[in-house]
Amino acid sequence: MINITRGVPPIEVFPTDDLIAASAESLKEDGARILQYLHAPGYPPLLEFLARKHNVDLSEIILGNSSLELLQFVTMTELKSGDYAFIESPSYDRANTLLERSGAHVIGIPMETDGVDLNVFEKELKKNPPKLFYIIADFQNPMGTVTSAAKREQIAKWAREYNFIVVEDAPYRELRYHGTPVPAIRSFAPDHVVTLSSFSKTLAPGLRMGYLYGPAEIVKRVTKWEVDTYIGSVTPTQGMVYQYLKKDLFDKNLTKLCDLYRPRLDALLSSLDEYLPSAVYPRPEGGFFVGATLPEGNSMDKLLPAALEAGFKLTDGRGFYLNPKDGDRFLRIPFCSLTPEDIKHSIEQLSKIIKH
Ligand SMILES: Cc1ncc(COP(=O)(O)O)c(C=O)c1O
Repeated sequence: MINITRGVPPIEVFPTDDLIAASAESLKEDGARILQYLHAPGYPPLLEFLARKHNVDLSEIILGNSSLELLQFVTMTELKSGDYAFIESPSYDRANTLLERSGAHVIGIPMETDGVDLNVFEKELKKNPPKLFYIIADFQNPMGTVTSAAKREQIAKWAREYNFIVVEDAPYRELRYHGTPVPAIRSFAPDHVVTLSSFSKTLAPGLRMGYLYGPAEIVKRVTKWEVDTYIGSVTPTQGMVYQYLKKDLFDKNLTKLCDLYRPRLDALLSSLDEYLPSAVYPRPEGGFFVGATLPEGNSMDKLLPAALEAGFKLTDGRGFYLNPKDGDRFLRIPFCSLTPEDIKHSIEQLSKIIKH
């Protein structure tokens, strides 16, 4: 059975020995502080390191137990029932869920290959201006697309004009295998953008370590929410990650990851070109996923069991849409955990059961 479902790193990329050493060093150097209750916003040396990396003030950054949890906190502090929130359509299934759980009216803005459709965005904006727009601008989950600089600039302009917050979720930003980075949305409107980042895709998801940076007044509200919820996020992992970063291991590991994932992405795109040319898919330059819309005549109800029978576990594309029917022909293909050979074999075999 080949698993083509979850966007998780392959286990062989975890830098276990370096993390064992970093953990021992942090407990030896600063054990008393790390093992005691530590109030949000988190472990000061790591906060200082990340604040320097992202060029923000210490009042503008907070650590959390995963970026998902910080997203949940932001929905709690910044949205109230009845507010409007926009999200890309399709988007990360858990983000859809978290926005909906907040009680906001969640509006999906259709995706194009260079980001959301700005005409629809503008129409919805004029009807019901949102309080918040959640966007994965770099190597989107589930599409793999990158929002163009022009679209980022326009979104930032509207955020200022209509006074909404852009939540720029960026766990894949540093995982670029081709091309050059596009400026973060934050660079166009720092007062209106909250950035979420995570060590899940660049180090290990089990660390459950994420962080948020953005306007100080939002960080202050999220910090209070975190203190009121559980005092502070888990510190031993923060100490471990700090030691790991301090030794300059992060960038070397990132290069290794990009070198491993690049041929996997290339293999997926060339296999799609060869075996499923009538599917519609973008050409991502990084990240974990390629999102493909299959030709008319396909449907999840038929495809998922047929794929299972042929030995492939697929994700139900309907999960990425607020209106599940919209994803009936949508296939998210995560490529990082599969070898180029497995990817080619999978797409070749799937093309025999996909109508095209
Ligand atoms: C866009 C996006 N945000 C957040 C996450 C989860 O990050 P974390 O493990 O830090 O909660 C994922 C994981 O798949 C993701 O794709």
